[in-house]
Amino acid sequence: MRLRIPTSRSAAALVWSCSCWLACAAWAQVDYEQPPISYLDSPVQDRVAQFQERLAAGEARLAHAAPTGYLAAFLQALDVPVSSQVLVFSKTSLQQTKITPRRPRALYFNDDVYVGWVPRGDVLEIAAIDPQQGTIFYTLDQHPLEDPRLQRQTHNCLVCHASSHTEGVPGLLVRSVFPDRSGQPVLSAGTFRTDYRSPLRERWGGWYVTGTHGAQRHMGNVFLPTDGRPEDLEVEAGANVVDLRERLNLESYLSPHSDLVALLVLEHQLLVHNRLTAANYSARLAARDAQIMSAALGTDPAVESDSVRRRLDAAADKLVAALLLVDEAPLSAPVRGTSSFAADFAQRGPCDAQGRSLRQLDLDSRLFRYPCSYLIYSPSFAALPAPVRDRVLRRMWSVLRGEDQSEPFQHLSAMDRANILEILRATLPDLPAYWHQR
Ligand code: HEC
Repeated sequence: MRLRIPTSRSAAALVWSCSCWLACAAWAQVDYEQPPISYLDSPVQDRVAQFQERLAAGEARLAHAAPTGYLAAFLQALDVPVSSQVLVFSKTSLQQTKITPRRPRALYFNDDVYVGWVPRGDVLEIAAIDPQQGTIFYTLDQHPLEDPRLQRQTHNCLVCHASSHTEGVPGLLVRSVFPDRSGQPVLSAGTFRTDYRSPLRERWGGWYVTGTHGAQRHMGNVFLPTDGRPEDLEVEAGANVVDLRERLNLESYLSPHSDLVALLVLEHQLLVHNRLTAANYSARLAARDAQIMSAALGTDPAVESDSVRRRLDAAADKLVAALLLVDEAPLSAPVRGTSSFAADFAQRGPCDAQGRSLRQLDLDSRLFRYPCSYLIYSPSFAALPAPVRDRVLRRMWSVLRGEDQSEPFQHLSAMDRANILEILRATLPDLPAYWHQR
């Protein structure tokens, strides 16, 4: 394979991972390499693995075409919309030597597949969500081949994709940096981890952003002098940009956009995906430990010990928080993107009899009209081990019924709660019977 993975000798990769390791000295990595998770070698059934089986059986093909190689065919085969394109120009990822502000990396995503394309890159970088094993990484060689094959990847990706930035499990991440004119992060100015909780003023350093957002400011579209301080970033020059053509030549890209709304949805989705994986792993690890303890102590393995209960409660609470957008960074003015992403996304439903859907966007004061993640419909949610899934549903029900009025959920009005409860009753299969009590 011609993939040139940065080695530990690659200066930039070293700086990047060191800055991460130092910042994360206190985090506890989840033990995902050992049974029962066995992340590195358990079989997976994500959509990319399924597609690879069809490729190998000759039931699917991938067409190669300049200048994007297998990108267009792969997105089409996996039903990933081109309108989800976002562009990142910071040298923060695998093929960083090829990424510059004039040749940014493009990312695309749908509910369970993420794809990264670098102009003239050696590989497509792919992450797919397996309902049990979480985020699984692949590469696809970008050179025209008789027989293109997806290669599963582990440590090459986990060096950056498994840390405190990904909830301690193999997962997705978005960073916001202060980039210089070459795209190199000016690390002395600091960096931010980004998800739906991040204030806009800390987002999108190192990214292009097309869209309008009123008087709010973000870090996208601009650079910092190499010895610059954070306050030197000229955020005015990067604000409310709707056309990137003055900044770079976009001819070889599938779309001219780096859509603001796509960025917001991506940054919501990746935290939920990471927490789904963390909740799944926690439940399986807790079950393993409970078995070991009960064998040692001769106790009933079906009775939850205090420590098992605490672990399951904590994992469920974190997932509920992400599903219900606890601590979402508020929008102080309406935001709009430039591509058809928002419309494509919203129309995918499912809708209840009144036409309400969790994919309806608000974009005036918050991301979603009804703040509950559409990933509750995902196979990963359905596949959660029962002890943690039951807890999540019980807690959500209590919040949505208005019984749980605790502080984290104050952003949900009585009307929000009632709307979400009704939408879920109508659209989420296999709810426990108590959800249907009036
Ligand atoms: C040097 C660190 C690093 C390595 C190694 C790395 N990535 Fe990433 N990756 C990132 C960062 C940082 C982002 C966020 C976007 C950005 O800054 O470019 C990212 C984003 C992604 C995304 C978009 C979804 C997301 O998490 O935001 C995909 C897909 C992806 N990487 C795939 C891979 C694959 C596949 C590998 C291994 C073959 C890999 N990456 C190796 C740092 C890395």
